[in-house]
Amino acid sequence: MLMQNDILEKIKLLEDKYAQMGQDINSYLDGLLLSNYLTYWDYIQVDTLLTLQNPKTDFPDEVIFIVYHQITELYFKLSLHELDQVAHNGRNIQGNGKDMGWKEKLDPVLFAERIMRVNRYFEALTKSFEIMVNGMEKEQFLRYRMALLPASGFQSAQYRMIEIASTDFINLVDKDVRSNHIGKNTPVEELFQNIYWNKGATELASGKKTLTLKQFEKKYSEKFIEMIKEYQDKNMWRKYLSLDEKDRKNPDIINALKQLDVNVNINWPLVHYKSAVRYLQQNTGDVAATGGTNWQKYLPPRFQKRIFYPELWTEQEKEDWGKGWVETNVFNTKHSERP
Ligand code: HEM
Repeated sequence: MLMQNDILEKIKLLEDKYAQMGQDINSYLDGLLLSNYLTYWDYIQVDTLLTLQNPKTDFPDEVIFIVYHQITELYFKLSLHELDQVAHNGRNIQGNGKDMGWKEKLDPVLFAERIMRVNRYFEALTKSFEIMVNGMEKEQFLRYRMALLPASGFQSAQYRMIEIASTDFINLVDKDVRSNHIGKNTPVEELFQNIYWNKGATELASGKKTLTLKQFEKKYSEKFIEMIKEYQDKNMWRKYLSLDEKDRKNPDIINALKQLDVNVNINWPLVHYKSAVRYLQQNTGDVAATGGTNWQKYLPPRFQKRIFYPELWTEQEKEDWGKGWVETNVFNTKHSERP
């Protein structure tokens, strides 16, 4: 039987591919004949994935809490994947699948599209956060949460890495000390001492760092400082500034960045805050399930005013950061629940 031309052509290409690496195609064809078909469960690693949910208590709702955190971490992973692509100008993969390394120049279309991907991941997370807010029995949550201390979503390193990749580091410095350092060459290590999140993990009574923070620092501070240095010239703001003037003025590009700012610094923090209000706020004082932090003063974006791209917003918009949305979208009219 005569072999079809296109199959012959492909075998020839394969021969070239393996020859280039000094390999004999014959052995690889033997391997192909012997190997099993790929299955969905092996490729997606479903069995392994389903072994990763291990509650610490017998309360049935704890598994919802674990799975939803894992879903969030996976979306964070996708976000970091896209930010990493932009930071390095995108991968240069040839038509034959060969990886030629990072591209030399950033394509403005790639920039806007990848930022929009991150926006979609965060929009999915913001929308699905109802699974946390309304999807667990409060009584169960309050019981099993005590078995998880001092762990907290506060210790999500990927969340912080998304921030580091998105903006100039100065914008993540505590807003009360930030202005003293703008325009100066303060070393990253020194700025890092004043990172905004320290305020979210300081004990109200003593002013000391919580164990949650101490453990987080022990595990990740070095890694964060390394990443901050690496991203000084390739965070999303720097990549935006590296574009031609015409592209920097493109409304699609500007809006993609502004949307990222709103998604990461207002919309997600607000739905997240809503869950803290639902579970932890009580008339008689807050539930002690948070390591004694002042989460009510810390979590609402209107207090934190974390802004990745202050240059893209008007003074009024910055002044109103995180306010309007609260009243119209997240909270009903109950005054006590408003941040
Ligand atoms: C019932 C659900 C949740 C409640 C009640 C809750 C509560 C809190 C509280 C009170 C804090 C302040 C720090 C502390 O005192 O520990 C916090 C911080 C944080 N949580 Fe959650 N959380 C919930 C779900 C989640 C989920 C699903 C994630 C996803 C990873 C998450 C990620 C974070 C992050 C990143 C912070 C730090 C925020 C910042 O520094 O601005 N949380 N959470």
